[in-house]
Amino acid sequence: MGRAFVYVILGGGVAAGYAALEFTRKGVSEGELCIISEEPVAPYERPALSKGFLLPEAPARLPSFHTCVGANDEKLTPKWYKEHGIELVLGTRVKSVDVRRKTLLSSTGETISYKFLIVATGARALKLEEFGVEGSDAENVCYLRDLSDANRLATAMESSSNGNAVVIGGGYIGMECAASLVINKINVTMVFPEAHCMARLFTPKIASLYEDFYRAKGVKFVKGTVLTSFEFDSNKKVTGVNLKDGSQLPADLVVVGIGIRPNTSLFEGQLTIEKGGIKVNGKMQSSDSSVYAIGDVATFPVKLFGDMRRLEHVDSARKSARHVVSAIMEPDKTGEFDYLPFFYSRVFAFSWQFYGDPTGEVVHFGEFEEGKAFGAYWVKKGHLVGSFLEGGTKEEYETISKATKLKPAVIDLEELGRGLEFAQTV
Ligand code: FDA
Ligand code: NAD
Repeated sequence: MGRAFVYVILGGGVAAGYAALEFTRKGVSEGELCIISEEPVAPYERPALSKGFLLPEAPARLPSFHTCVGANDEKLTPKWYKEHGIELVLGTRVKSVDVRRKTLLSSTGETISYKFLIVATGARALKLEEFGVEGSDAENVCYLRDLSDANRLATAMESSSNGNAVVIGGGYIGMECAASLVINKINVTMVFPEAHCMARLFTPKIASLYEDFYRAKGVKFVKGTVLTSFEFDSNKKVTGVNLKDGSQLPADLVVVGIGIRPNTSLFEGQLTIEKGGIKVNGKMQSSDSSVYAIGDVATFPVKLFGDMRRLEHVDSARKSARHVVSAIMEPDKTGEFDYLPFFYSRVFAFSWQFYGDPTGEVVHFGEFEEGKAFGAYWVKKGHLVGSFLEGGTKEEYETISKATKLKPAVIDLEELGRGLEFAQTV
């Protein structure tokens, strides 16, 4: 028994939602498109899970953050999919894919066949067990990737008020969750192996400003070390964590954000994998001409920098989704994906945006103070390649984004110290 569709999107996250909207705009017919997702809810804006969802007062809850509200576009509720004749198969894991036969096998035993398959399986959170630490399935240890994780974390936070939380990892999840924990009146200690937070992006100077602010909010930092084991009570609840540097921290709650792995396993041995993701061309097409990949799981050519990248951010999920639909439905009108990497975050009253590539020499600008605008430019081989701005206006972010996309030559690094004025003259 099976069903056949022209287009199947495997995965029901951010990229799937944006692709669905684009399909309807390009004129998909009723019954042609199917989305199959392990999650029990229609696609939603995942970034909400570490921000609005964790607020103590009036937290964001579905249906308020279904895609595509994050791009100020239509909110696609389950009713919307129905009205547009899109088959939304929820709570259903795809167990295997046969790329040669163009079929998927679901956990319910159904075979679904496709003419075009769009892989949008995103990524999974890395588990501490993968680093040799046992016991992270305890009820008060939380990861954060999907809605069920977020519900679990919100419940754990409620029962840990005025208690101690240890946050493992100094990346996006670590920083955003630490801020949410503080807002929920929980004492936070952050533990990570690097010398400063957000090591993949922040310079020491940028990191130190945010860390000082976190410290002022009561957050403690334990850097240059990792967790080695947990302490448990008789109910198998974690009561503390042991660190490699020999110290121990008490814990009512542990939040873990130690990176992700793209969900490629269904395709290993069937499609070319590069940099951990499914390798695609500028049309998001994989090594099999009927299979496309978008979002966190795709490794695609970034024209601007002349290399292949896999990005783990919502903007690339949204834009690669729109692009793949154009590439499939309007192949003659669609060029190569021409993407400027864009990352952002919001913690407490801070809000920053980054465009481009954080490599090369760095020049900081602005007033490095809370409530002020400041930032940095990265210059590689004599050209501007990356821009970071905290506290900018919409227009100012547009200005640095446009300037970065043009990769202007930088003759004198000092001119970058003029900050936004420099970007305005590009
Ligand atoms: P996404 O993970 O959204 O969706 C994948 C879907 O595929 C899931 O529904 C999954 O269940 C499903 N799936 C996987 N395997 C399957 C299978 N075998 N069968 C069926 N279904 C399957 N980015 C940013 O730029 N700014 C931000 O502020 C944030 N904030 C943020 C917060 C949190 C908590 C997270 C976890 C992530 C962010 N991000 C972010 C990153 C951003 O959310 C991420 O880049 C996008 O969600 C990627 O979209 P995808 O659609 O590729 O994967
Ligand atoms: P990350 O890659 O941002 O950070 C991982 C961090 O884990 C590193 O900074 C390091 O400090 C730490 N680490 C690595 N190995 C460790 C170990 N063995 N023990 C202790 N710490 C260790 O990943 P993340 O914070 O887990 O975020 C997961 C995903 O969610 C990423 O794809 C990220 O882009 C996405 N996300 C993005 C945003 C945003 O863009 N604003 C917000 C939340 C999540």
